[in-house]
Amino acid sequence: MMIGLQRTTSGVLFCALFLISASCKSFAYDLEVNQTAFLKIDASPQSGRKIPDHLFGIFFEEINHAGAGGIWAELVSNRGFEAGGPNTPSNIDPWGIIGNETFINVLTDRSSCFNRNKVALRMEVLCDPVGCPDSGVGVYNPGYWGMNIEQGKTYKVVLHVMSSGSLNLSVSLTSSDGMQTLASNNIIASASQVSNWTKIEFQLESKGTNSNSRLQLTTNHKGVIWLDQVSVMPTDTYKGHGFRKELISMIEGIQPRFIRFPGGCFVEGEWLRNAFRWRESIGPWEERPGHFGDVWMYWTDDGLGYYEFLQLAEDLGAAPIWVFNNGISHQDEVATSSIAPFVKDVLDSIEFARGSTNSTWGSVRAAMGHPEPFELKYVAIGNEDCGKPNYRGNYLKFYDAIRNAYSDIKMISNCDGSSRPLDHPADLYDFHVYNSANTLFNMANQFDRTSRTGPKAFVSEYAVTGKDAGTGSLLAALAEAAFLIGLEKNSDAVEMASYAPLLVNTNDRRWNPDAIVFNSWQQYGTPSYWMQHFFKESSGATLLPATIQANSSVHVVASAIICRSSEDNSEYLQIKVVNFDNEPVNLMFSVSGLQNTVNSSGSKMTILTSSNVMDENSFQEPNKLKKQQKLLNKMTGHCRKLGNEEDKCGRKKMKMQWVPKKQTRASNIVPFAVDPSTSQHVNADEFLQFMLMGFVLFLLLTLEWFILTLQGFLRIMLVWVLLFMLIV
Ligand code: AHR
Repeated sequence: MMIGLQRTTSGVLFCALFLISASCKSFAYDLEVNQTAFLKIDASPQSGRKIPDHLFGIFFEEINHAGAGGIWAELVSNRGFEAGGPNTPSNIDPWGIIGNETFINVLTDRSSCFNRNKVALRMEVLCDPVGCPDSGVGVYNPGYWGMNIEQGKTYKVVLHVMSSGSLNLSVSLTSSDGMQTLASNNIIASASQVSNWTKIEFQLESKGTNSNSRLQLTTNHKGVIWLDQVSVMPTDTYKGHGFRKELISMIEGIQPRFIRFPGGCFVEGEWLRNAFRWRESIGPWEERPGHFGDVWMYWTDDGLGYYEFLQLAEDLGAAPIWVFNNGISHQDEVATSSIAPFVKDVLDSIEFARGSTNSTWGSVRAAMGHPEPFELKYVAIGNEDCGKPNYRGNYLKFYDAIRNAYSDIKMISNCDGSSRPLDHPADLYDFHVYNSANTLFNMANQFDRTSRTGPKAFVSEYAVTGKDAGTGSLLAALAEAAFLIGLEKNSDAVEMASYAPLLVNTNDRRWNPDAIVFNSWQQYGTPSYWMQHFFKESSGATLLPATIQANSSVHVVASAIICRSSEDNSEYLQIKVVNFDNEPVNLMFSVSGLQNTVNSSGSKMTILTSSNVMDENSFQEPNKLKKQQKLLNKMTGHCRKLGNEEDKCGRKKMKMQWVPKKQTRASNIVPFAVDPSTSQHVNADEFLQFMLMGFVLFLLLTLEWFILTLQGFLRIMLVWVLLFMLIV
């Protein structure tokens, strides 16, 4: 369980006693809690240390169909018919044929007008309006396990077509069996209009919703029709740049300060010939050859290419971190003596991102719609290649060439420099960890003894894996949170960190677990995703010294920062606490060095917990585990007085313990307590004085009421006596 406690620091803090004591009057639910941990926070201005601006970000890898069939909104899979290979006959999967061989013959040939991807689809229709089935014959594409077509939304269709005669082609979005038509358009053209390859574009508006739709291209006219580069994109994408909105909004939710892309192993390739090549992924989408990623074993049309990654980084306000192939794959390596073309290729990629519009590659970027340079300041030389024979040799060639051309670019080595100095120059070194929950929890101290001089760590991949993780458990998230708290505390030795992998399409899960789970129409965050919300305000914040005192059987990790809230732009004190024990633990915390003005409103407690640490979210219960936020003064529970003790000056100190309502022992909830004696603003004596004043006021009011009542009684008696005398 983790708590993020926020409080305004416009003069700061601690009116928590007031809020807690107000709740004390209403509830009496008791709980036996045996363990107590004490958290001491020093909030004096001179004790804080700035956390790097880019500490927490994301790592995007083309894995699990994270991009193709994921954040890239293209609905057609294998849009250029190249996924089956560049030679013919080629497998056109997942395209399918409508009509049997008495009506239609479908094959592939190399007649495309696009030189880098020559394969096209050729369909020979053997029937005419009299002989063809009523609904026509042709081909369909089911997209990435069903297209999500929504009522009232519009879709841009682009296709390239050529025909042996006149053309009458119906283009429709239908249900998966073709029975329900959601939107349709007829392309009618004379033979001369389509005797050569012709690009046709139009929009379709859907009159229904179906998350398992498909695209159909059908006709009932005899003749030969060629099709190539067929695309269907929703018109409503993130910032109009082609990304699936709901998924990007989840990514935005964690406010990433950087995006490392496009892999991972994806960058390396199983073999060099299948590694990602940035140059093949830019320019008009129809002309991109696409490629088969042989590590994660699927085809990508590369609609999401190098340019789109840089655009996404800019749109998210995240620093791009370009991981490039350094001439090394999983199975083969380029010799350092032959690495020059690879070095030149990488220099070109940097020029593409940053060069002026007059430069060779900067002008290509400008032609794609971005004349301003992208803010590329970080590059990683390879991925997980440190141990490979040619790594150091190749690395130095890249390093020297980039340093020569760009003095401000920070370069990231694959070799771990956390326990001993690197034997080569670098600005940062990469550090990856996938392990059990216990190991990651204990790694909260991993960087405590790392040298503070020399390159800093980039923890670009971390996650709990194996049976502790399930497909995204609370247990994994708790251990990861403890690890991140350790990174926050060691952020003078750690510059950046990102969870891995970020996304998984459940129809093709290649790695487990992942932070964001989706299919064609649904998505949810695993606890590890929600855990990252607790750190979204850490980058650029001020770290405060925070020490936990507890006996060794208590597994509680905590940190405190002063940060600016993205919600209201005010400053907050934020305390994060992870209780990794099965038992609840009392947390007593004290804050010293706070300023005098106390703002009692707006304090919040955010919790991530569940009754079972192996609990997960799912499409059925996407919000079973999710951060829950409560205003502190609305918290239900009760305060328990823990007793008095004396401070150094001999004054009595009162300790109060907050016990949330409905708490169960197994839930890992950390009750917390305030030690008002060490807060600068409200102390126990003042509290008692306040209560005493209230009591005196109550007595005075009671007395006044009594006197008023007595007066009334005497007046009535007087009236009766006068009446009696008159009558007599
Ligand atoms: O995140 C999944 C994979 O794990 C990455 O591709 C690789 O860098 C690591 O081994």
